[in-house]
Amino acid sequence: MKDIKSRMEAIFPYENEIPDKYKIEPIICDRYLVHGEIVKFNGEFQKVYSPVMVKTKNSQLKQVYLGEYPLMDETHSLEALDAALKAYDKGKGLWPTMSVEERINCVLKFVEELKKKRDLVVKLIMWEIGKSLTDSEKEFDRTVEYILATIDALKELDRASSKFIIAEGVYAQVRRSPLGVVLCMGPYNYPLNETYTTLIPAIIMGNTVIFKPPKYGVLLHTVLMEAFAASFPPGVVNTVFGDGKIVVTPLMKSGKIDVLAFIGSSAVADILKHLHPKPHRLKCVLGLDAKNPAIILDDADLETTVKECILGAFSYNGQRCTALKILFVHKKFENIFIERFIEELENLKFGMPWEENVKITPLPSFERINYLKEVISDAVSKGAKVVNRYGGENVGTFMYPAVVYPVDDKMRLWYEEQFGPVVPFRYFEDIEEPLDFVINSNYGQQVAIFSNNPEKIAKLTDVLVNQVSRINLNSQCQRGPDILPFTGRKDSAEGTLSVSDALKVFSIRTLFAFKGTENNKQVVKSILNNRHSKFISTDFIF
Ligand code: G3H
Repeated sequence: MKDIKSRMEAIFPYENEIPDKYKIEPIICDRYLVHGEIVKFNGEFQKVYSPVMVKTKNSQLKQVYLGEYPLMDETHSLEALDAALKAYDKGKGLWPTMSVEERINCVLKFVEELKKKRDLVVKLIMWEIGKSLTDSEKEFDRTVEYILATIDALKELDRASSKFIIAEGVYAQVRRSPLGVVLCMGPYNYPLNETYTTLIPAIIMGNTVIFKPPKYGVLLHTVLMEAFAASFPPGVVNTVFGDGKIVVTPLMKSGKIDVLAFIGSSAVADILKHLHPKPHRLKCVLGLDAKNPAIILDDADLETTVKECILGAFSYNGQRCTALKILFVHKKFENIFIERFIEELENLKFGMPWEENVKITPLPSFERINYLKEVISDAVSKGAKVVNRYGGENVGTFMYPAVVYPVDDKMRLWYEEQFGPVVPFRYFEDIEEPLDFVINSNYGQQVAIFSNNPEKIAKLTDVLVNQVSRINLNSQCQRGPDILPFTGRKDSAEGTLSVSDALKVFSIRTLFAFKGTENNKQVVKSILNNRHSKFISTDFIF
């Protein structure tokens, strides 16, 4: 096999070398979805380029042109807000007053429409964000499963709420009602899945939505506007495209957004929250930065640990909020861990996202590469080394992963979420060292412990459960399975997102209650028997 360097230099193909079945035609989207219609956009457009580059005739590299989308302005986002407000109509709209069963039917229709677009959406995920074809397919299928699981969870919730509770002579039916207008913004690393893990629960609970796709991964959403228009009443889903500062600022400043559902950086979340003039009205559902460490104890199984750490650090090039972003390795493994880790890293296939078994692919922008180089240089200037060959070197948008050792608390890599193929690590003797890292970190999402010693694991877990939201034993950190709660402490999250928790964060418990007098009972009986109300109902959803 050729040396890493020469493989890197040959990583990008000539255009005619791209297999036909993976090629994609540019998508020019000159429309947006508002008031239930896909309307023509007149204005400036944003050109979209892929992380994938191709060689030109004179052996230069250029990013593949993928298409264009509207660069909207304040007028357009206020139009979307108006549509969402009208559809909600202060809670009197068709959608928020619809029965749960009717809303479920609309979402089922949407799933059918979505499935028809699988091939195109998968291709777009791959081309727009450089995710491997296999992982892009997984993202699509996981999203469909998530929606179906959401429907099941809502049926379950509704069934449980269909009965009356009797306490101290008071009869009550307790259900969940929508909150109003939700602004949904997902991240670029899971542009479909993580957008939909807030968008779908928000919609299905009766809210109306404005959604803005992430910076990378916009075109895949443009091809789904018809599916939304065909499945939901006008104004339930509205899209805004463009620069976040321009299109999101007026929405937040209006004070009319009831829920901000945002997955991205805590810095951006802070700005958005502070733009809203009514902080108590605004509910936030946030999935933010993380700096999940792996803590590798002296009795860990070296082979399992190395393999899991490689997966945890480099799946989708380390661009996961749950990625392992710093490794604390017990001194017992000095030298051997690093050796095995680099060996496994060098076995990872890198290349174009459509290649079979490819693990490391190009990054979405030069901005990301410059940032990663900056944090590596910062660490090197303070005494660390890049300990693997070619670590941190790039050819165009492709950067070879860097293993940086030893890191300490003077370095940016200690604090900042690098969100890319860079792994800082250090050896430790005293367990207090990694514990101090976790305690002093601004983030508190997850930790991975590697050990086989029951006592040590238990002791460590009992401390870590008060610092982070999930402790993983002998495995990388991760969000799934999606029925498990996904949340974080400190600057890592607000609210919990599992299939069933998401239904709760986009709704509020609401009661219909009455004193159990004979008269009241007769009135309520009549409401139930005649099915006068969508809320006061004992119907069972099958
Ligand atoms: O980017 C953060 C994602 O929620 C991580 O999900 O652990 O399934 O990759 P994952």
